[in-house]
Amino acid sequence: MKGTSSAPTEGTDGAEESGEATETAETIEAIEALDADGEKLFPVSSRCIVVQEAPTSAPMNKMNVLRMEQEFALLVSAKQKGENPRMKLFLDTANVRHVAEIAAWGVLDGVTTNPSLVAKEGKAFKATVLEMCKHVPCVSAQVTETDANGMIKQGEEYSSWNKHVVVKVPMTTEGLKALKRFRSKGIKTNTTLVFSVSQAILAAKAGANIISPFIGRLDDASEDGMGLIADIMEVWHRYDFDCEVLVASTRHPRHIVEAALLGAHICTVPYEVFAKLPMHPLTDVGLKKFLEDWKKTNQ
Ligand code: G3P
Repeated sequence: MKGTSSAPTEGTDGAEESGEATETAETIEAIEALDADGEKLFPVSSRCIVVQEAPTSAPMNKMNVLRMEQEFALLVSAKQKGENPRMKLFLDTANVRHVAEIAAWGVLDGVTTNPSLVAKEGKAFKATVLEMCKHVPCVSAQVTETDANGMIKQGEEYSSWNKHVVVKVPMTTEGLKALKRFRSKGIKTNTTLVFSVSQAILAAKAGANIISPFIGRLDDASEDGMGLIADIMEVWHRYDFDCEVLVASTRHPRHIVEAALLGAHICTVPYEVFAKLPMHPLTDVGLKKFLEDWKKTNQ
């Protein structure tokens, strides 16, 4: 935190008169106290990102600082409890070739599929899922039955295919009944089509291992998709839900960055967006120059 705490309060014209700057400085002092507690638990490199960046691209303000204070306290507490928070990246696809390609980068933790993605590829569902299971330890396969008994039967079959299969269940009341049953049988689940905090809470209480709020589709409807993730993470911080939050329906790299800043456990990313994540024009320019200069050395 050292060397970064003064920046947020600079340039806040008029804020000092209202007392806002003083309160922000006090809040930053509180963060630094937490920082001292966490000194041995987190390397400075991982913490300074949390402090320098606001959870959204909005300018640093008191609310953002408070949120970061809370998130850092939670990280310290999770670490003290022996937990090891680690963001997971999934590919949102039914294309096996794309899974193999990204998995080869060594950064892929799982895959999410859905009936629309499977239809787009036009390949056999079971064979596709099984092929993906060779590359990653977590492949979401969605049930297409709509009543609880049908979902349970279908999900039990999917999970018998491979231990990497996670049964994807829609967020309906029938889905909730099925989730409870799957949890009691030790079958891993991902609840899809989550669009509200109340749905997130119900799915987690019913036993979902993962919930998938769809942020892009909320944005498409003029709502605030990432705001939903912020709200869900806030609720998750207050309770002990044994359920990971997977940010779905992502549309661009900034979604992944903002999900990470909010501490979401998993982000599922379409292939076209994943392909953009390693890119930066300055990396290309820098490498070109390094290689040109190296040639001049005649080695
Ligand atoms: O897999 C579910 C989700 O990620 C779908 O995204 O782009 O169809 O809203 P999208």
